[in-house]
Amino acid sequence: MDRIRIRGGNRLTGEISISGAKNAALPLMAASLLSDAPLTLGNLPHLADISTLASLLGVLGVEIAMEGDAPKGGHVGRVLTLHARKITSTTAPYDLVRQMRASILVLGGLVAREGVAKVSLPGGCAIGNRPVDLHLKGLEQLGAAIDVQGGYIEARAPKGLTGAHIVFPFVSVGATENLMIAATLARGETVLANAAREPEVVDLANCLVAMGAKIAGIGSGTLTIQGVTSLHGASHEVVPDRIETGTYALAAAMTGGDVELKGADPAQNEALFEKLREAGVRVTATEGGVRVTPGRGRVRGVDVMTEPYPGFPTDLQAQMMALMVIGSGVAMITETIFENRFMHVSELSRMGAEITVHGASAMVRGVKALAGAEVMATDLRASVSLVLAGLVAEGETIISRVYHLDRGYERLVEKLAACGADIERLSN
Ligand code: EPZ
Repeated sequence: MDRIRIRGGNRLTGEISISGAKNAALPLMAASLLSDAPLTLGNLPHLADISTLASLLGVLGVEIAMEGDAPKGGHVGRVLTLHARKITSTTAPYDLVRQMRASILVLGGLVAREGVAKVSLPGGCAIGNRPVDLHLKGLEQLGAAIDVQGGYIEARAPKGLTGAHIVFPFVSVGATENLMIAATLARGETVLANAAREPEVVDLANCLVAMGAKIAGIGSGTLTIQGVTSLHGASHEVVPDRIETGTYALAAAMTGGDVELKGADPAQNEALFEKLREAGVRVTATEGGVRVTPGRGRVRGVDVMTEPYPGFPTDLQAQMMALMVIGSGVAMITETIFENRFMHVSELSRMGAEITVHGASAMVRGVKALAGAEVMATDLRASVSLVLAGLVAEGETIISRVYHLDRGYERLVEKLAACGADIERLSN
């Protein structure tokens, strides 16, 4: 299995171009199930999770054509055309769903268009229990009969779905996306209250509107969807990845570097940038993105609590902790979204970090230096926090289980190396 080797100590300087957002691309691809006309998505990142969902959609009958990486016809990044002319299977098998939980996003589209869907229940996950009860309750409210048997969810609505008023007990990105997809083809009006407002949810809503859906309240906590009888094709550009942006902003801050994040949208990362400024790092909007430059002296410890958007994202918690580990003073980091998202703590500690976990909070006491070590992590964001720590650690850090990083960071090694990091991928 591949590993990454980093020799720490180099300041990052230069430019990093930000890819399209993985977590926007996945629900957008699932939305292709709604129409028998082609959906063209531009600015798609080249990532393992995208390939996994493409394989699943292929099994369901979606014809997929890829146009490569070169800018073409106004598109940038990878361009994928998904054409669900005819759904040939309504079953999402365990073998594919177990590779990626986001496969659950095909449920809403299948049942809305075909009146039936059988989707494997996603299993447990390294960062928490992650049930899908809100997805299922919402579909029931839209009139689907749900049966869970033999590890599969079976949803039936032979006469189609009917609009309903759904109030989420707490914010869920995936449930908001799945039910918004389903409601576009339901009869009458659906209201999704306490809906997620993440930029990825907004991107999906905008694409659905381009396909002919009627959605009001986009970007707010209440989405009102008037069902239509069919959707047409569309062409849509995926938003820039705010988590990739935040990760590289933190990498620059850790190394005292000067990096411009090209293509980043500063409005999507306000919670992080506010915390970075509080910690003494300079963050400025540029014409083409965002620039991160060092402030005076060592980064200061600041407290952070993860929250649904526009709060501080859970997907940047591990990376923020890596920065706080080398800051001055103490930082309290509280995780409120997932119950088990401190898997990076023990690995950071092996590199010399001083962190104590009490329930959902981690107390980080900043140290002056970290020491390179052999480390590994069990999820994408935890793994990348070890890469950040490796960039400043003395000596060599070897990170194994690189496949986690391949799921969510496009050309990670190349992008960091181009800014001066001493980093390479070791294949064996
Ligand atoms: C999305 O996951 C992201 N994944 C996650 O990205 C991200 O961490 C998360 O949103 C929160 O921002 C994708 O977009 C593909 P949720 P999702 O439903 O939709 C609980 C990454 O590293 N819950 O908003 O699965 C759930 O257990 C990742 O890129 C229920 O209890 O997250 C969690 O505690 C990992 N029942 C909370 O809600 C449900 O039916 C929020 O989860 C659904 C969720």
